[in-house]
Amino acid sequence: MRVGIIGCGNITLRRHLPAFAAVDGVKVRALADPTPDRLQIAQAAADLTEADCALDWREMIARPDIDAVVVATPQRVRPAIAIAAAEAGKHLLCEKPLALTPAEAHAMVDAADRHGVILATVHNYTFMPVYRAIKEVLDRGEIGDVEVATLNFLGVEDRPGAAAYAPRWRHASGEAGGGVLMDMLHAVYLAGWFLGADPVAVSAVVDRRLDGEGDVEDFALVRYDYPRGHALINMAWGHGPGGVELTGTQGRLMLVNEDFGTHPFVPPERVHVIGPAGHRAFAPDPEVGPSFELIVADFRDAIAQGRQPAADGAAGAAVLEAVVAAYASAALERQIDLPLDTTNPVYAHGAAGVAALPMPDRSRVRQLGLFGTGSLTNA
Ligand SMILES: NC(=O)c1ccc[n+]([C@@H]2O[C@H](COP(=O)([O-])OP(=O)(O)OC[C@H]3O[C@@H](n4cnc5c(N)ncnc54)[C@H](O)[C@@H]3O)[C@@H](O)[C@H]2O)c1
Repeated sequence: MRVGIIGCGNITLRRHLPAFAAVDGVKVRALADPTPDRLQIAQAAADLTEADCALDWREMIARPDIDAVVVATPQRVRPAIAIAAAEAGKHLLCEKPLALTPAEAHAMVDAADRHGVILATVHNYTFMPVYRAIKEVLDRGEIGDVEVATLNFLGVEDRPGAAAYAPRWRHASGEAGGGVLMDMLHAVYLAGWFLGADPVAVSAVVDRRLDGEGDVEDFALVRYDYPRGHALINMAWGHGPGGVELTGTQGRLMLVNEDFGTHPFVPPERVHVIGPAGHRAFAPDPEVGPSFELIVADFRDAIAQGRQPAADGAAGAAVLEAVVAAYASAALERQIDLPLDTTNPVYAHGAAGVAALPMPDRSRVRQLGLFGTGSLTNA
């Protein structure tokens, strides 16, 4: 499988290039990035010629010798690239979040279906050994049916983007579609994975405590309800505790990370399982890197076997919808049902749609001018 990578930022250098180099049957043959410095760094890392590297991704997708592309750009530009690549018959491995808006994410899914190509979303946390080990405990029924999943990610590192591009793009809602919750939506699909379903409703508060720059949340407390059970996601950029706690009908499970911090910014330390058989604890495998190799291998096999990948485009669209619904809930100070009503402005416009919602004056989103609503607070 001959692959092109579009977007040569940190995730491509740190994860995608090493993963593609380590997996059999795949080879990176082309790169594209409009930032010359990044293109050069990636060219050297991938050991490609200048002719294989383009400032414009259109050159890459016009190449008949490229079978699949990785779209590892920031999310704002991903839909146009992915849809054009699907039209050119390329299979797609897209970084998360798929897009800024659910409408665009669904358009990507439709384009892939129409042109008969695979669309996979990088939901890599379900491939991390620590979360796989937890899922195995659940699947063995050791704590019964999960009733409440609490995912503490209160120490998310606020890592800048590539220096030569736009290091603070994650703090602008027009670029990122949201703040820490959008960036770390890994917790949202992990919660659904643990509970075995997509959420049916969300209730959230968001805030910005640390950062005068940008218009996104740096703090989110989100409750998702499932057909059976609930999840609470506590998330923030900055310093705070991490770890996962699952309570089931017959027991509980706790993941404790180094210094009680937030995984994967610190390694996982111990998983405790308390069930009818008593208490047991084990040290999980702390590796993160192999999860990308498993994603690449799953993508390769999905194409070869004509099956859906572990996280397909629909899964990516559903998670994005769950995040923008949390923003709508925080803005309106009320629960929002999922899947989203397609007439909800956040369906078509993502976080930018929040400005069209009838927010109460005391709404924190309104007071802080989050998600481009600054003009409302000044009015
Ligand atoms: N799955 C994960 O664990 C994970 C981790 C980090 C980032 N990501 C995702 O990967 C994406 C990129 O993040 P990053 O940290 O690498 O960002 P980054 O800022 O380090 O890099 C972004 C790169 O995209 C390039 N780019 C911008 N516009 C482009 C275009 N039109 N065509 C081609 N390239 C373009 C920039 O020049 C830059 O090199 C984001 O969507 C992010 O959410 C996922």
